[in-house]
Amino acid sequence: MLPLIYAHRGASGLFPENTMEAFHAAVRRRADGIELDVQLSQDNKLVVIHDHQLDRTTTGSGLVRRHTLQELRQFRADKNSHSRYPKARIPTLREVFQAFAGTSLRIIIEMKNFLVSQPHLEELVIEQIRRFQLTERTIISSFNFDSLLRIKELDPVQTTGLLYVGPIAKPWEVAARYQADQLHIPHDQLNSSVIKQSHQHGLTVLGWDLNSSRHIQEALELGVDGVITNYPGRAKKVLRALKRYN
Ligand code: G3P
Ligand code: CA
Repeated sequence: MLPLIYAHRGASGLFPENTMEAFHAAVRRRADGIELDVQLSQDNKLVVIHDHQLDRTTTGSGLVRRHTLQELRQFRADKNSHSRYPKARIPTLREVFQAFAGTSLRIIIEMKNFLVSQPHLEELVIEQIRRFQLTERTIISSFNFDSLLRIKELDPVQTTGLLYVGPIAKPWEVAARYQADQLHIPHDQLNSSVIKQSHQHGLTVLGWDLNSSRHIQEALELGVDGVITNYPGRAKKVLRALKRYN
């Protein structure tokens, strides 16, 4: 199978991150999947936004967790795109699922519960995935490994990805401890040995975030199973040009 291209926060190199605009743009660029970040609003709705604070990407300010969904919907979500997408809003996970449930798009759902507590986030995410029958097309990732274990308790067949930054000597051992199916390896930790040994341990390897053509090409040549990138169109082009996949 060809390596899969996942659009990080959607096609976020060109569109406002984690918005429907960026997700639809990823589909137009023929991405195999999207990656998005999920956290809870004050009224416990699943909202798609990266930072815990609203200030960098939206016209709101303060903690996401201190705002209801209705309040969050008032803010524009195109602040990091020079205000070029006035209709862009913070989507709910449900809205994303509604848009893409009838397609073949894969979705990596990163639970943002490492720094700020998000009570019952795991239960709510699994419930939403089941409602849309998306178990086979979704991967749940997190820097919070205990949370990944909780996902497996809730649904043993749900695919999970151990997401990390910085060096881990034997990441396949950590993946086994937390029952993860995939390793999401930062680009500066990718090498042929870690990929080979991860594969030998039955793990799928995705590299993140690979944005320059050179980094994307290097990762593909090393044998990753997928690339997480802000530029899915660029990654597709690099993949098409590679001899080993022609
Ligand atoms: O693809 C992995 C990546 O999404 C994790 O980091 O900060 O972009 O959510 P971050
Ligand atoms: Ca993320």
